[in-house]
Amino acid sequence: MPAELSPIDKAKSAAAKRAVGFVQDGMRVGLGTGSTAAWMVKALGERVRDEGLRIKGVPTSTRTADLAREEGIEVVTLDEAKWLDLTIDGTDEFDSNLNLIKGGGGALLQEKIVATASDQMIVIADAGKEVSQLGAFPLPIEVIRFGWQTTKALIEELLVSLDVLGQTTTLRMNRTEPYLTDEGNYILDLHLQRIGNARQLALVLNQVPGVVENGLFIDICDIVIIGHGDGKVELRDINAGSVANERVEFAENENVFADLGD
Ligand code: A5P
Repeated sequence: MPAELSPIDKAKSAAAKRAVGFVQDGMRVGLGTGSTAAWMVKALGERVRDEGLRIKGVPTSTRTADLAREEGIEVVTLDEAKWLDLTIDGTDEFDSNLNLIKGGGGALLQEKIVATASDQMIVIADAGKEVSQLGAFPLPIEVIRFGWQTTKALIEELLVSLDVLGQTTTLRMNRTEPYLTDEGNYILDLHLQRIGNARQLALVLNQVPGVVENGLFIDICDIVIIGHGDGKVELRDINAGSVANERVEFAENENVFADLGD
């Protein structure tokens, strides 16, 4: 493993490397977005080049699509693939039921569509992403631009009656302009601190006119792979109820991750 990587990047790369071991020849694979997912795309590209692995990748953002093409992975749309064998993605938080908060990188809509259209979703994370209760990470909500301030007010009104600790809602910015998703929508970040009933919250948020999707992934993730800086990985399978501890070996001079930062 390259010496110049930080422990957190080593953890991400270890989880990513183990996750691509689940990919088999001929699979249609959903490719997540974010810094951890970028390690995965790199590791998958390496398998494509070294082993001649034939896969079709469905990216969840333009960023991931660009990286996948650079790595020599065949990129197709979800409509072309129709259904996927596997999606591998990062997360902002996961709990003991493998429910997630995603969307810190702004790609939650495509990520949720792609993960839902997959036989299996594997989440890769460093240990810092595990929480006892979701909500410390601000919950991203994708909203259409039309009437967004009304949508924001409706969400804030809704939060008063729900089991959450904080109720502050902010419009995500990109310097001085509102952040725009790949679909041209805005993102509201909900600073809830603690979400008492994530399943209920996910359902009611999507009832608000103007909300396109929320970043709660409930009952979507099947396996989480937690990477550690020393190359150890823990695999938790929610369906099998199993936990396995393994170690990812990196070649002495391996440097495939050296050009990836956050
Ligand atoms: C992208 O929209 C997100 O859902 C990311 O998957 C999530 O924010 C994790 O990103 P990192 O791997 O960069 O922490």
